[in-house]
Amino acid sequence: MDVILLMASTVDGKIAKNSSQFVDWTGKADKKYFVKLTKEAGVMIMGSTTYDTIGKPLPDRLNIVMTRDKSRQSDQDNLIFTDLSPAGILEDLEQKGYTRAVLVGGATVNSLFARDNLITQVHLTLVPRLFGSGLSIFAPPLDIDIGLTLESSQEIGDGHILLIYHVG
Ligand SMILES: NC(=O)c1ccc[n+]([C@@H]2O[C@H](COP(=O)([O-])OP(=O)(O)OC[C@H]3O[C@@H](n4cnc5c(N)ncnc54)[C@H](OP(=O)(O)O)[C@@H]3O)[C@@H](O)[C@H]2O)c1
Repeated sequence: MDVILLMASTVDGKIAKNSSQFVDWTGKADKKYFVKLTKEAGVMIMGSTTYDTIGKPLPDRLNIVMTRDKSRQSDQDNLIFTDLSPAGILEDLEQKGYTRAVLVGGATVNSLFARDNLITQVHLTLVPRLFGSGLSIFAPPLDIDIGLTLESSQEIGDGHILLIYHVG
């Protein structure tokens, strides 16, 4: 199963100023890439905090929301709340016929997947901003050293650079 970590980062390595910030600080080009990649994969996985900043499932793809809160119940076909482990989620998706999934944050669930060595690609949009403080890609910080191979780098508009890496 291909698991693509898709993140927008400031030049100083921040993905948000704080946990409740909605990602509205990137440009059109980044949003367009997000929509394309997640729709192509057909499924995106996120933490409940990130889901709450969006507020609704995004259409035309499966939205999987990781939460330990059993009171959260979906009333929509393309929205699943789950307390499965990252590996459990991926097994379930494989059984449903998916071959790739896009992990769209936030920092907490990124750490869960990285800790279990489940990320196979990283697609990072470097946004020309500096936040000075805020959330890093992983929280809590992880003791990992995962080598990446650069597949491509491309300016996608608005001064944003899209970096595509494979793990290994
Ligand atoms: N720049 C970007 O590309 C980008 C992308 C995505 C998000 N973000 C930003 O990231 C921020 C949110 O990140 P975040 O790290 O605070 O939250 P998060 O990773 O989105 O969600 C964390 C939540 O997931 C739930 N959860 C489910 N399983 C868990 C487990 N095994 N261990 C721990 N928690 C588990 C917990 O809430 P429950 O109480 O529901 O269990 C936890 O509070 C937002 O500001 C968002 O804008 C940025």
